[in-house]
Amino acid sequence: MSNRVYIFDTTLRDGEQSPGATMNTREKVRLARQLERLGVDIIEAGFPAASQGDFDSVSEIAASVKNAEVAGLCRSVKKDIDAAWGAIKEAAKPRIHTFIATSDIHMKYKLGKSRDQVLEMTRDAVAYAAGLCPNVEFSAEDASRSEPQFLAKVVEAAIAAGAKTINIPDTVGYAQPYEYGELIRFLLDNVENSHKAIFSVHCHNDLGLGVANTLAAIKAGARQAEVTLSGIGERAGNAALEEVVMALNVRADYYGLETGIDTAQIYPSCRLLSMIIGQPIPPYKAITGANAFAHESGIHQDGMLKNRQTYEIMTPDSIGKSSSDIVIGKHSGRHALKSKLDELGYRLTEEQLSQVFQAVKNLADKKKQVFIEDVEAVVLEEVYRIPDKFKLIYLSSMSGNMAIPTAALKMEVMGEEKQLSDFGVGPIDAVFNTIDHLVERSPKLMRYSVNAITGGADAQGEVTVKLEENSMTSVGRASDPDIIVASAKAYINALNRLAKKESDLEEGRADGSGDHAP
Ligand code: KIV
Ligand code: ZN
Repeated sequence: MSNRVYIFDTTLRDGEQSPGATMNTREKVRLARQLERLGVDIIEAGFPAASQGDFDSVSEIAASVKNAEVAGLCRSVKKDIDAAWGAIKEAAKPRIHTFIATSDIHMKYKLGKSRDQVLEMTRDAVAYAAGLCPNVEFSAEDASRSEPQFLAKVVEAAIAAGAKTINIPDTVGYAQPYEYGELIRFLLDNVENSHKAIFSVHCHNDLGLGVANTLAAIKAGARQAEVTLSGIGERAGNAALEEVVMALNVRADYYGLETGIDTAQIYPSCRLLSMIIGQPIPPYKAITGANAFAHESGIHQDGMLKNRQTYEIMTPDSIGKSSSDIVIGKHSGRHALKSKLDELGYRLTEEQLSQVFQAVKNLADKKKQVFIEDVEAVVLEEVYRIPDKFKLIYLSSMSGNMAIPTAALKMEVMGEEKQLSDFGVGPIDAVFNTIDHLVERSPKLMRYSVNAITGGADAQGEVTVKLEENSMTSVGRASDPDIIVASAKAYINALNRLAKKESDLEEGRADGSGDHAP
């Protein structure tokens, strides 16, 4: 059996099903390029049959990824398979990923199908997909709750019909590590043609066992792990890529296995995701959290000073987390910025570079040191943002313990300049009230969070705002050294995203949020 474990990243598909993690197409393409730098073997780009938005973003990713395989997910029905193939066929290395549920509970209540019907659908779907694309993956959804003998029959049929990869998902995060490892071993030993396919695992984290189950399955012989950056995904998420990869890496003595991941790209990848979705990496997060390499207790600090290996099983450098990386100052030139951006994997046009250069210069005027994180925040804001219906032109706010919080704003609202002043219970509330009146909308504020992008009192504040109106939600984010300005920009960004969703629906295009995915 090979000692190579293939890393299948589903951040852009299962990960995007995480509440508040919706990304636009440009953001997805940017993240896909970073996943290539990270060295993942397969990028699951989306679920093309879910909506026109999903189809378009999967096609764009397929066109821009060169080294990794690009997978499109589809149910085991012809029209879904056609949509998946339509979206990925221009990829350098396309893969059709088709699935059907095999547990009694899913077959009875969700599909309304018998075991024999599901078996037949599996054969037909895989054979049809294999006729379009030689690289087919088949997933038995809810495999861990399926009757093992029936599961083995389905797997055998899928391989016989042409599947090259067989995925055994723990869809609802129900499995226990030892039991799950046994299931993989049972299938490898009892499915007659198992040697003709790579066995894969896909574990959800409902009981906090996603990574443990993935590793147990790998130990038992699975050679593909389906994971997401930072473990984002449906409900409690999926197994985290960085945790699975670093476990295999740090404990190579135990597993004796390797991946194609460049571990020094782990932190930059998770950080980029966090910036795109506007959700900070929790400080206590394994591998990438701010505290993952911090030593607080005296005994630990003493041990570290004597020999780092007393309390450090991996180094920050090994995951690409260097302590300070000042990239640009007031006097740095355009050339220095361009080479830093090239190094980070951004490919900007001359016009975009000028836009970013000006914004970074403005920031360097306000802030002593500009870090990589600051530059990435600027790029995401200047280049990856969807076209704006509403724009902030001017903002002034007043607050204090003896003042009524007031905001005065000038905005461009669908091409027309408008200005207004309003009050609130605090300065942010005053800003949001003023914006609502200027754009003549009244969304409900569902979430508001502020995070400092880097350290220091002059750090940029990164604000995330979630709004709901007419049963639609959207997440906006923005950064600025002034958190009131960042809040206004984030709120306006969320309004622009709401407006975009509405116009997509009016034009008959679904919103591309992945809401319809499994
Ligand atoms: O969790 C799951 O079962 C899935 C499949 C579609 C692979 O995401
Ligand atoms: Zn899943």
